[in-house]
Amino acid sequence: MNKIQKLGLTVLLSTVFAYGHGDVVPQPVDTKGLKPLGKEWLETNPYVGNKKAIEIGKHGYEENCARCHGLEVVSGGIAPDLRYLDTGADGDEWFMERIRGGAVRNGNVYMPPFEGILSQEAMWAIRSFIVSKHTEE
Ligand code: HEC
Repeated sequence: MNKIQKLGLTVLLSTVFAYGHGDVVPQPVDTKGLKPLGKEWLETNPYVGNKKAIEIGKHGYEENCARCHGLEVVSGGIAPDLRYLDTGADGDEWFMERIRGGAVRNGNVYMPPFEGILSQEAMWAIRSFIVSKHTEE
């Protein structure tokens, strides 16, 4: 292998590791412009249909969720397709359970918890974006 080939292989491998591995740093979401929600966890989405929330949620989703759940909420198959999530109160509850606590079983992290990383405002903004992409089967 010559120098150029070696360099190419190194670049290729580091790209594979950067994108192929689950440990991507979670990104905080700027929720300026949204009504602050305080410390109590709400049971239902306070931003239903709020355009600003959907826009902020889109960025939050792209930076924190899309690598597993797919761009534009269309899953490539490694994680559930969130377009089919219930859009009502039951869906709100299930969404918050998962986004806050993640999905961790027997020490395996299928989905990382986002509590303490994303604000409640950011979580509901992401929920609003996901609901805006809802699809019936
Ligand atoms: C590392 C990959 C990964 C990331 C990042 C991730 N998820 Fe998940 N998510 C999963 C997997 C895998 C499951 C299925 C968990 C299981 O097996 O119980 C899941 C399940 C869910 C569910 C429940 C879906 C259902 O049909 O029951 C919701 C809601 C959800 N994720 C939302 C999010 C949101 C919102 C984000 C971003 C803030 C996110 N996830 C980031 C992998 C991920």
